[in-house]
Amino acid sequence: MKVLAFAATTSSQSINKQLAAYAGQLLKSEFDGNAEVEMIDLNDFEMPIYSADREAESGIPEQAHAFRNKIGEADAVIISFAEHNGSYTAAYKNTFDWTSRIDMKVYQDKPVILLATSPGPGGAQSVLGSAVGSAPYFGMDVKGSLSVPSFYDQFDAEKRELIDEELIAQLKSALATLKPVQ
Ligand SMILES: Cc1cc2nc3c(=O)[nH]c(=O)nc-3n(C[C@H](O)[C@H](O)[C@H](O)COP(=O)(O)O)c2cc1C
Repeated sequence: MKVLAFAATTSSQSINKQLAAYAGQLLKSEFDGNAEVEMIDLNDFEMPIYSADREAESGIPEQAHAFRNKIGEADAVIISFAEHNGSYTAAYKNTFDWTSRIDMKVYQDKPVILLATSPGPGGAQSVLGSAVGSAPYFGMDVKGSLSVPSFYDQFDAEKRELIDEELIAQLKSALATLKPVQ
């Protein structure tokens, strides 16, 4: 099974990147030792801010095609969302907006696990709710979603793993649903 994982942020120190990487490792250690988990970095898909005028003048940037192709090559996708002012980071929204101009079904009906975390008690639940709520419009087959509140209390930075047993159990039950496409 090929799994694409990324954090919907551009921070090099991203806590969501740590969470997405952990989820990928957990998938391999618990469910599929042969899974190929590829972590991508949104910085590698940076594009100018979407505008209809830019699109009319220059078309859709190749980075949007590359992002869509990465999703297309995967059997499943793991995303961890950073929350900026209750919503998506500008970087994710821009990548998503350009990619949706190729085809609204950005996620191409792939099984997707949606995660989100923040340093505060809200655990980026607002952006996670947006992602879950809009998923059917964008070809996201959501198999599970999980918000991790108070990241620095819940995540062991040295071992690079979640601490709370209940959160681990919830993440495992979401990951258990991922199956290779036959
Ligand atoms: C502009 C900005 C807005 C933010 N808004 C929120 C917010 O609405 N809710 C929240 O829980 N954290 C918010 N934060 C804090 C982020 O959760 C925190 O920076 C987190 O580390 C972002 O995730 P990342 O490390 O994966 O990029 C905000 C941070 C920035 C810079």
